[in-house]
Amino acid sequence: EAEVILARSAGFCFGVHRAVDTVYERTGMENVYTYGPIIHNDEVVKDLESKGVKAISDVVQLDGIDNATVIIRSHGVSKNVYESIKTKNYEVVDATCPFVLKIHRIVEQESKAGKQIVIIGNEKHPEVEGIKGWSVSPVYIVDSIEKAQNLELDRAKEVVVVSQTTFNYNKFQELVEIINKKSYNITIKNTICNATEERQTEARDIARKVSAMIVIGDKSSSNTRKLYEICKGECEDTFYIQTLRDLNLNDLRFIDSIGITAGASTPNNIIEEVYTNVREFCRDVS
Ligand code: F3S
Repeated sequence: EAEVILARSAGFCFGVHRAVDTVYERTGMENVYTYGPIIHNDEVVKDLESKGVKAISDVVQLDGIDNATVIIRSHGVSKNVYESIKTKNYEVVDATCPFVLKIHRIVEQESKAGKQIVIIGNEKHPEVEGIKGWSVSPVYIVDSIEKAQNLELDRAKEVVVVSQTTFNYNKFQELVEIINKKSYNITIKNTICNATEERQTEARDIARKVSAMIVIGDKSSSNTRKLYEICKGECEDTFYIQTLRDLNLNDLRFIDSIGITAGASTPNNIIEEVYTNVREFCRDVS
């Protein structure tokens, strides 16, 4: 019977888990909204919709509603957004990941102390937009060698560098090295969360020793795609699926060991469904 290995780090990280639980605890209540889709996963967002939870992208969408509960997702939001929800007297449930909150605090305090803030991260990512919005002065966002090289800051002021939690560590180091050469009075705060890296390292280790690998996650999830690429590099027979429906179990017929991992936004029930079915199939064909 083929061996089936499920990665321990498959699926939600701590912060996402917490945010998703926070929403599910409030289903059944009236007028529950999430500020942006709670996670990058269609199945979950649709399930929540069917339970009455809607995603909004702006508080104006709530005009005319006077008793809304607005849940802030793990990525966090800018101070402006936070306050615009508060001033409307809506109930705010803040599910921002504590690791992201820590960055908000650093950025707020250090910018208030007159320091210049540099964020290593992707400008368009909602987490970075949120972080940026806690600074009281303009923020510099760097995500490429070119931008690091072109960075020009005020030499009279101190500089504090933080990072988007999901930024790639090697790339972070590379960019920091370029910025460091400019000899500013600089403090580097590596605020990368290791959940992503742990998941990738474990996926690589498993993919290396199995003959087929299954990666579960939404097609639009960039971290799942990355996991897929890592696994594919180690194991030719790597399958990228969104749910069990996309998996042709017969592809696994002659395989003696199978690994399973999942992206950061893949819910547990989807992972478990795949895991149990693959195990049952392996038992039946053996
Ligand atoms: Fe997840 Fe929080 Fe890290 S949301 S990736 S545990 S920063």
